[in-house]
Amino acid sequence: MSEKSETLASLSHEERRYAPPEDLVAQANVTQATYDEAAADRLGFWEKAAERLEWGQRWDRVLDWDDPPFAKWFVGGTLNASYNCVDRHVEAGHGDRVAIHWVGEPEDDTRDITYAQLKDEVSQAANALSDMGVGKGDLVAIYMPMIPETAIAMLACARLGAIHTVVFGGFSSDALASRVLDCGAKVIVTSDGGYRRGAPSGLKPAVDEAVAKVAQEKPDLVTNVLVVRRTGQDVEWNDDLDVWWHDAVGGASTEHTPEQMDAEHPLFVMYTSGTTGKPKGILHTTGGYLTQTAYTHWATFDLKPETDVYWTAADIGWITGHSYIVYGPLANGTTSVMYEGTPDTPHKGRWWEIVEKYGVTILYCAPTAIRTFMKWGAEIPAEHDLSSLRVLGSVGEPINPEAYVWYRDTIGGGTAPVMDTWWQTETGGHMITPLPGVTHGKPGSAMTPFPGISAEVVDDEGTPVGNGEGGLLVITEPWPAMLRTLWGDDERFKETYWSRFADQGYYFAGDGAKKDEDGDLWLLGRVDDVMNVSGHRMSTTEIESALVSHPKVAEAAVVGAADETTGQAVCAFVILRESALAGGEEASDDLIQELRMHVQKEIGAIAKPRQVMVVPELPKTRSGKIMRRLLKDVAENREVGDVTTLADSTVMDLIKEGSSSGS
Ligand code: WT7
Repeated sequence: MSEKSETLASLSHEERRYAPPEDLVAQANVTQATYDEAAADRLGFWEKAAERLEWGQRWDRVLDWDDPPFAKWFVGGTLNASYNCVDRHVEAGHGDRVAIHWVGEPEDDTRDITYAQLKDEVSQAANALSDMGVGKGDLVAIYMPMIPETAIAMLACARLGAIHTVVFGGFSSDALASRVLDCGAKVIVTSDGGYRRGAPSGLKPAVDEAVAKVAQEKPDLVTNVLVVRRTGQDVEWNDDLDVWWHDAVGGASTEHTPEQMDAEHPLFVMYTSGTTGKPKGILHTTGGYLTQTAYTHWATFDLKPETDVYWTAADIGWITGHSYIVYGPLANGTTSVMYEGTPDTPHKGRWWEIVEKYGVTILYCAPTAIRTFMKWGAEIPAEHDLSSLRVLGSVGEPINPEAYVWYRDTIGGGTAPVMDTWWQTETGGHMITPLPGVTHGKPGSAMTPFPGISAEVVDDEGTPVGNGEGGLLVITEPWPAMLRTLWGDDERFKETYWSRFADQGYYFAGDGAKKDEDGDLWLLGRVDDVMNVSGHRMSTTEIESALVSHPKVAEAAVVGAADETTGQAVCAFVILRESALAGGEEASDDLIQELRMHVQKEIGAIAKPRQVMVVPELPKTRSGKIMRRLLKDVAENREVGDVTTLADSTVMDLIKEGSSSGS
């Protein structure tokens, strides 16, 4: 066995297998037959998926790939995304069904919004925006907390054919200004503030700053700022620009006729937190995006709109929120929970209280949240009745087997299957995932491409690797919800995603992956997170997983730090479990040795960390991604770089204080 495949083989220690629950199989939305159909006729399969939506005019061509990598799906078709997410459910007699159980951070602050009410509010918002001169093709920036008006504003834009760009409310005014300038937004929708950990926190001041910055470059760009009153805190007011939502929207008519849009009409631009340079504006269009988000939401979670209560615990400011809080669930007529706050406000059982109160049946969240709950301990969820949960989802990063099994057992009662969904801002919707009525789950593996999706693991030359081997993940055929380009930058679009395997015409995802002996897929993290130690390719994910499998470790992040002898060396940052700390365990030399040896035992000597640093927190973005770049700065004794996208920018100070002693 070569050294490379030896390293890869070590992840396959995992022997646990979970069959789909029998009662779920008996009434599953999707069966093996769906995979077979899609394999026999890929485009025909996506046509059928598109037929689940209501179209003005039917398409005359499913896919136009004449000018790759610029795809057009459902060519000639017309539809309105807002109509599909709202009006048609009311017309079908489901106006009284709750669309959104909104849960504010302050405990008694809740709202239940039915589809009929949603239709009225979206129509009012569309009328108000239209009165401000917003029309088809105009850009609207949305900078909001997690309140219903955020979804309403998005749907109001879609109704008019205006293109929204939601900027996560945790971003700085600079980030907002650069995005407004890049896409040319004429209106900004915001609120006075939002609630964070029990206290109101302002948003409008950041908008005021952004507007001033934008005005320096483009004085006439922003014509209005539409402000929701959420916290009631004092705000500066500019009569020339600012308009209260309750005046403009509240006073508008509830009648609004949505206009049919071309299937390829832009729906939104979502900026990805650029690792280098300028953020990338990912462009999604209407027909293909809505088809894939609606269909995957229905299939991956086995959604039964009449009975399920669905909850994506993420922020609308990220693609997960766009696709699986707003567009997918609403297109399917789902009853969803939307939660404004953090998991520990006002106490660490808040999520489980919400699950119990609303009878949540499907929960979708990030592994980082799961590992946090593991750290807090199983006693906290045990205080609540979570028996309503029947399907669980995971997204955003590889889920390590320990977290997967804990999620399944402790949250899912040992029966709810875990859907580990691999996808990206760029892919718009799920691409690689188990399906709850079909797949035998393997902790840590995202398993197989979704029906109608063609993915491969290839070597540097673009040749598919065999089972048991690793390489780069590519998507080999266009898919409906694929990004169409980077806003205003076709060249960068081609360069970033299509130049790596230009000969084959593959989409380069930027992720490492391996196929196990059964041909199932394991995502190994971004290729930029893959280390090279003494010429061996090693996955940060794999070592993190080994560390987290140690009973004293709650969470771990691994980076490859420059090393004179070995090229890169493994540096690990770990958070200990509260039980370990309560037992008086400190970051002793003995414990550090124990953890290093544990990794050696789990993976091999090559993976043994050079350094293990015990830290109180890890630096995470608001979407929960660990910013390894910053840890790398610490590991390499450098000045720590830009911390503006961290959820809590003081975390790095804590880590630096602790790290000097741990090596
Ligand atoms: C990157 C995309 C998908 C929406 C949220 C993140 C990583 C995502 C998984 C998963 C392993 C995953 C990949 C991908 N990723 N899901 N299930 N297993 N890795 O969207 O910010 O565009 O990030 O997240 O590295 O490339 P994003």
